[in-house]
Amino acid sequence: MAVEPGTSTPDTLLEIAVRIAREAAATARRTRAEAITDVQTKSTDTDVVTAADRAVERQVVAALAAERPADGVLGEEYGDSAETAAGAVRWILDPIDGTVNYLYGLPQYAVSLAAEVDGVVVAGVVLNPVTGDEWTATLGGGAWRGGRRLTGSLRTTLDQTLLATGFGYDRARRAHQGAVVAELLTRVRDIRRFGAASIDLCLAAEGSVDAYFEKGLNPWDHAAGGLVATEAGLLVSGLDGAPAGPDMVVAAPPAIFGPLHDALVELDAAGGP
Ligand code: IPD
Repeated sequence: MAVEPGTSTPDTLLEIAVRIAREAAATARRTRAEAITDVQTKSTDTDVVTAADRAVERQVVAALAAERPADGVLGEEYGDSAETAAGAVRWILDPIDGTVNYLYGLPQYAVSLAAEVDGVVVAGVVLNPVTGDEWTATLGGGAWRGGRRLTGSLRTTLDQTLLATGFGYDRARRAHQGAVVAELLTRVRDIRRFGAASIDLCLAAEGSVDAYFEKGLNPWDHAAGGLVATEAGLLVSGLDGAPAGPDMVVAAPPAIFGPLHDALVELDAAGGP
């Protein structure tokens, strides 16, 4: 199913992303037993990368190069390809988001692939290879899971909010994150930590949790899931009007966003190491 070169509408980019993510997901799943015997560490001794992370990224990069040679790619394991020109497409890939879950055989990991044009994410897919759950979105075209349009949670108060979050790999950062979560626990319905940021964002998009926040995410963690959440009607940003980024990603329905945002500011959730 070759796509006309140079065709870069959000729908076309999503079609490519979904096809390539499905092939990547099949590889991740098929090679798990062998891949987890080849595990290395990255930023800290608990930040793991498996042979599958690297193999899946290589597969996706090769597929994109064959089909879309002019596009750039930013991947978790191998970094950024050449600078993309104005108007060009840059793909943002997390080959396996939730690597620790992958290592332990927990069915909560995903291939996350987004297409960005001039710094704006226009299409994205998050695909769980174990469950087959597939969340997609295009800019202005809504967020979808298996033919169902996603509209987020109808919850309106922070004290009724089921709040997902995650933690970085650095111990000093975790100490700060733990203190923030300890305080938030007294203000929300409960906290969930599933272990894959892209899936957390999609769960918020479909209302399986009410909201999500995390400090320390990289673009590949939130590019696709962030678009899914936005297109489901959630507000997705950093604190104090900053865009979503390494300091903070908050995703919440409009009614919850304000109180959650203010609590995060009060607790200095974007601060610390
Ligand atoms: C991690 C997961 C985790 C989040 C971390 C991420 P990785 O990505 O998304 O849920 O809490 O911040 O780094 O390392 O599994 O690709």
